[in-house]
Amino acid sequence: MLNFLGMPAAASTHAGEIDNMMVLVHWLMAVLFIGWGAFFVFVLVRFRRGANPKANYAGAKGKIAKSTEIVVAIVEIVLLVGYAIPAWATRVKAFPSESEAVVVRVIGEQFAWNVHYPGPDGKFGRTDIKLVSADNPIGLDRADPAAKDDITTINQLNIPVDRPILVRLTTKDVIHSFGLYEMRVKQDAIPGMDTPVWFVPNVTTEDMRRKIGKPDFEYEIACSQLCGLGHFRMRGFVTVQSAADFQKWIADQEKELRAAN
Ligand code: CUA
Repeated sequence: MLNFLGMPAAASTHAGEIDNMMVLVHWLMAVLFIGWGAFFVFVLVRFRRGANPKANYAGAKGKIAKSTEIVVAIVEIVLLVGYAIPAWATRVKAFPSESEAVVVRVIGEQFAWNVHYPGPDGKFGRTDIKLVSADNPIGLDRADPAAKDDITTINQLNIPVDRPILVRLTTKDVIHSFGLYEMRVKQDAIPGMDTPVWFVPNVTTEDMRRKIGKPDFEYEIACSQLCGLGHFRMRGFVTVQSAADFQKWIADQEKELRAAN
C-alpha cells in the first residue's frame, strides 16, 4: 500500500503510524483532486454561455456542494484528531527516561554532524565555545572529570536496536535539520537550544541490508534544512547495531581514547 508513495523502508517503532497517516492523507487528496477536477469540468459545461445566454443573479440552489464540504471537513477532522494529534503527542510528550534510553548529543555545524556520547559514567562533560578547534569541534573540556570518558565522532552515529534513543540536538551556527528518513525522524536544530527528539530503531543496519537486498546500504543523517552552500553534502551515517555490537563499539572507542591520551 505504501509503495505508491515511494517511502524509504521503515526502521523505527513509530514509522508505521506515520506512514498510515501519510497514506490516508494522500488518499483524501486523491479523492479531492479527482472530485474537484470533475466538478470543475461539469461547471464549465453546465454553465457555459451558449446554454445560459442570460445570467442568473440568484445563483445555483443545489445542496450537494454544502454536504460535500461537510463530509470533507469531517474526514479532515478525523485525520487530525484521530491520527495526527495523538501521533504528535507521543513524539513530544511520551519521552523515555534518561535511565532507560541511550542518550546522545548531536551538534550540527556547517557542514557536519558532531556526535557526543557521555561514556561509561553516563555524564556529558562540559563544553565551551572557547575550546572549539579543528580537533575539538564541540569544544569538549577534557579537564572536566565528566568529560574524560566522553566519546565524540563526526558524521557517524552508532545506536543499539530496540532501545529508546534520546537525541539532544543543537547546532553551533545556523539552523540545520536532523533527518533520519528510515526512522521517520525529523527535527530542526536551533542555535542556543537543546532540542530533545526520541525514537526506537527496530531494524539493524545488517538486517536492513538483507531486507532490501542492498549489501552496502547505510542509514543516513540528512540535513533537511537549507543551511548554506555545503548543505547538499551535510550528511552523516547511522549504524544500528545489536546490543552486544554496540557495547563492543563503545568499548573500542574507549580503548582508542585511552590510547590517544
Ligand atoms: Cu545543515 Cu542543511
